[in-house]
Amino acid sequence: MSDDAFAWQKAENELTEIDTSVPHSARIWNYWLGGKDNFPVDQAAGDQYAQTFPGILDLARLTRGFLKRSVRFLAREAGIRQFIDVGTGLPTIDNTHEVAQRIAPDARIVYVDNDPLVLAHAHALLTSTPQGTTDYIDTDMHRPDTILEAAARTLDLDRPVGLTFMGVLGHIADDGEARSIVTALMDGLAPGSHLAICDGYDVLSPELLQAQQDYDDGGSVPYKLRSREQLESFFTGLELLPPGLVPAPQWRPETEIISPAPQVQPLGGIAVKNR
Ligand SMILES: C[S@@+](CC[C@H](N)C(=O)[O-])C[C@H]1O[C@@H](n2cnc3c(N)ncnc32)[C@H](O)[C@@H]1O
Repeated sequence: MSDDAFAWQKAENELTEIDTSVPHSARIWNYWLGGKDNFPVDQAAGDQYAQTFPGILDLARLTRGFLKRSVRFLAREAGIRQFIDVGTGLPTIDNTHEVAQRIAPDARIVYVDNDPLVLAHAHALLTSTPQGTTDYIDTDMHRPDTILEAAARTLDLDRPVGLTFMGVLGHIADDGEARSIVTALMDGLAPGSHLAICDGYDVLSPELLQAQQDYDDGGSVPYKLRSREQLESFFTGLELLPPGLVPAPQWRPETEIISPAPQVQPLGGIAVKNR
């Protein structure tokens, strides 16, 4: 997106699309992470969830922890220099480009989200190192062709890309549809590309199920809580790297172990496209 087009779209969205009457996923998530970019309607929805299932605050932190470790792994150990972060969320501490560019200052990152407030704050995602670059695509993940076309302005799609979905695939309720989006994006990426996902659960507590039901009934875009089997199907045709699809804190842990371990933990995994 050119600077002019970006500024125009940002202004238009700010004026017309930020709806503070219904809770939004990006804003509730920001509230759970301790951010300030949210409205009373998001705080009320977030508080209601946390009252029924207090572990949601750990889940949000564990997902961000997985994002950081997986981006570090991709940049440092897999040699990835290009990223597409789908369902970016509101800017926070350690956005994908900051984590990647600390290891590889020349890393190029494309962010994708469809929330108008994320677009309004996207300037904080466009703070690349001089050697690298970042871009923001304001679109719906249901449009993988648009994402690939727009990403190609910033990334060389003949070279490997790290494609990340952190706490976002549940916004697509139908398993086949979600899989087809992941597959369409991976099909457009070069061999050597990696897919990183944090989502789904081995164990679902009754409190989590109830909290999610209330959330889904409360006007936010619903979020499907997937099982391990459903999650595994997103990696079909790819080589899942060690340690496999595991509770996020167990995926190549560094120092972020929460003790005692929360009863409900999101699953995380990374796979590589070999050909
Ligand atoms: C739970 S937040 C996760 C944010 C971030 N990935 C993280 O881990 O902190 C989900 C994000 O997905 C975005 N999202 C939801 N549906 C989307 C869609 N159809 N297309 C693109 N982004 C979407 C929301 O706006 C929100 O920013």
